[in-house]
Amino acid sequence: MVKKLLQVLKGEAVSPPPVWLMRQAGRYLPEYRALRANAPDFVAFCLNPELAVEVTLQPVRRYNLDAAILFADILLVPHALGQKLWFAEGEGPRLDPIQDAAGIDALTYDGAKLAPVMQTIKGVRAQLGDDTALIGFAGAPWTVATYMIEGKGGTDHETIRALAWREPKIFARLMDVLVDATSQYLIAQADAGAEALQLFESWASTVPAGLFQQAVLGPTARIVANVKAKHPNIPIIGFPRGAGGWLTRYAQATGVDGVGVDQMTDIAAVDVPSRIARQGNLDPILLLQGGEAMRGEAKRLVTAMKGKPFIFNLGHGVMQPTPPEHVAELVAAIRG
Ligand code: CP3
Repeated sequence: MVKKLLQVLKGEAVSPPPVWLMRQAGRYLPEYRALRANAPDFVAFCLNPELAVEVTLQPVRRYNLDAAILFADILLVPHALGQKLWFAEGEGPRLDPIQDAAGIDALTYDGAKLAPVMQTIKGVRAQLGDDTALIGFAGAPWTVATYMIEGKGGTDHETIRALAWREPKIFARLMDVLVDATSQYLIAQADAGAEALQLFESWASTVPAGLFQQAVLGPTARIVANVKAKHPNIPIIGFPRGAGGWLTRYAQATGVDGVGVDQMTDIAAVDVPSRIARQGNLDPILLLQGGEAMRGEAKRLVTAMKGKPFIFNLGHGVMQPTPPEHVAELVAAIRG
């Protein structure tokens, strides 16, 4: 059977469109919370293939989604680069921030630290139905670098923006390290059986226009080229969240097969070549809320994208207080 998600990423329109949701595995699911309750260390949880396989499959079993997304985290790459990473309960990720050029030079990517992720991919592939695609992923360099330099989320990224403007060579060196590590990580995921890859540029919104080439377009293009040199046929989705005005140039400059679209952007008006798939972009608040407003907006999106290569998703991840039944209602509305 042909996997709908892969068909769309080849540039075909499929009706009804394939659907998966960013953060489809996670704390809104009681079966996730039950497993996580016995695994207090989140990094160890991500690196436990038995648990990660189970958590990856939980939403797919419940909702018969068109894709599974590997359960892992974008911050596993800094972990494999030797940076100290932990998740403070109720506060989110924390890293021992990199302060200077010496801190960047000390980073060395140890792929063996992420070998459990490859075991997870193999384990998921062995259990996945033959119409469901497995998506691997990584954070894009700018987004991962914001956490590495700031040491946490929730800032306006002043420290890394100051670094990028003041010390362009040091910033370029950090981007090089991340391009190299991320390329190796994604190639290993494809070797292990990932069938599509997504690059999460979750903080494209804080990149100043004058740095967009050095911080986003250039590094993303190099990762896509590196991965495609080893796996010419693997489709790659790039999601520069909060940078809707850049999507045309992003699609042209990076070589991605699909673009993720956030809920602030009019997905039907996004101007990309007709073979490039668009993925998105229901407001996660509507999924939280459920009901007629959610179903109506979902149908509007499906209609607006009819005849074009389109993957139904949210504009960002599932919010933690979302009632799980709303996901079933959404999927039913899309498949109508
Ligand atoms: O989408 C999926 O279902 C796959 C799994 C996935 C996770 N993180 C699991 C996770 C994916 C694709 C990510 C990506 C990720 N991680 C991003 C990019 C996407 C986005 O949301 O913008 C970012 C910025 C991170 C970094 C990160 N990890 C943050 C900011 C947090 C939230 C901290 C918190 O406590 O709310 C995490 C933790 C995290 N990653 C959780 C999950 C399920 C929650 C951890 C828990 O169970 O306590």
